Amino acid sequence: MASLSNRKLLLIVTGGIAAYKTPELVRRLRDHGTEVRVVMTKGAKAFITPLTLQAVSGHPVHDDLLDPAAEAAMGHIELARWADLIVVVPASASAIARLAHGFADDLFSTLCLATDAPIAVVPAMNRLMWSAPATQRNVELLRADGKLIWGPAEGSQACGEVGAGRMLEPSQILEQIQTFFGNTTSLHSEPAATSGALHGCQLLITAGPTREAIDPVRYLSNHSSGKMGFALAAAAHAAGAQVTLVAGPCSLATPNGVTRVDVTSATDMQRAVAEHIGHADIFIGCAAVADFRPVQVAGQKMKKSQGEDHMVIELVKNPDILAWVAAQTPAPFSVGFAAETHDVANYAKEKLQRKGIQLIIANDVSDPAIGFNSDDNTVTAYWADGEQSFATASKERLAEQLIDLISQRYEQSI
Ligand code: PMT
Repeated sequence: MASLSNRKLLLIVTGGIAAYKTPELVRRLRDHGTEVRVVMTKGAKAFITPLTLQAVSGHPVHDDLLDPAAEAAMGHIELARWADLIVVVPASASAIARLAHGFADDLFSTLCLATDAPIAVVPAMNRLMWSAPATQRNVELLRADGKLIWGPAEGSQACGEVGAGRMLEPSQILEQIQTFFGNTTSLHSEPAATSGALHGCQLLITAGPTREAIDPVRYLSNHSSGKMGFALAAAAHAAGAQVTLVAGPCSLATPNGVTRVDVTSATDMQRAVAEHIGHADIFIGCAAVADFRPVQVAGQKMKKSQGEDHMVIELVKNPDILAWVAAQTPAPFSVGFAAETHDVANYAKEKLQRKGIQLIIANDVSDPAIGFNSDDNTVTAYWADGEQSFATASKERLAEQLIDLISQRYEQSI
């Protein structure tokens, strides 16, 4: 984890019940040596007092755009320039809408327009407000503008409902901040090789399974170990690429020089990919992303009822991350995997077309000696007008061969 010592963080607290958790976040940040300044909106002050945040941050709280005293000390333009990172936490639906549409009529919105510091948004709201098309449109606008979106989490909410919209816990926000600074640090401290087929390329890769929560103790998942994706990340780094690895839950060590972002569910994975896709030249979707997730996540452990021998769990489709990446403008050179148990070549070619990608690697997962959770693999790669088969080899060796092929196909595409 990156050191947070001497980082300058501007927290913007907007109106929401989760605002009561921000003093804890400020306290933890200061424990790590981070300098924190706080801005509050009018709505935030309905939930928590400026005095509390002043006490924990050790600085006066800023809350007014037109306050002569504040402008005489540290004015809003100076605040906007001062921060290494701005975190809007909690970000209400209204704050997200105002940010997405470029308002400049209060301190919060003006600061966010007047800065070139990265801005992270930590949503917190009722599940229906979060899933409302207007909010989702606004979140997409923010992502497209390069804002980082951290969360929301799923679970029981202050209003008594259960679903997506909960603010991440202070410890999780702290981790996101550390990962953010870690990413910038590792890009500078662990340079990729200065030569190699992918020298100068930025490569984003997903690996491992996703977990889709049913209740606090159960989830839907699959047998992916992450070995193939981690081996590809290592081989791409060795070939000179700057690699970001978005990893589902797996216990493998991070390959040297690779920046890792850990996620749990498919929606977490999509968010992380959206946050890091901006500069990617090449995207590889090696993760075994769950195609569906439960519609409702129970807030408490689901209990067996006497006399009931069946349980029905309604599922909803997850976003297709690979197809989403390939549909961006401009899109990176996009590579997918196809895990199939039969009719492998046909299904793989169909996915190549349907997902609009440049290369697909077909994996016959009916044989337990290759594919999921094995040390070896055997694959065939397909592209629009060609194919290449690879004999059984360790995933590390195969990854080197696949990275060779990917770099050749990428070169020809530009
Ligand atoms: O992790 P290991 O144990 O080493 O195993 C490696 C592997 C078998 C998981 C890997 O080689 C592999 O085949 N990964 C893709 C598994 C998969 O989910 O395949 P799929 O046919 O369901 O998906 C096709 C492609 O779309 C994949 O690139 C997948 O990452 C992507 N996808 C799928 C669904 C979804 N919602 N979003 C996606 O991006």
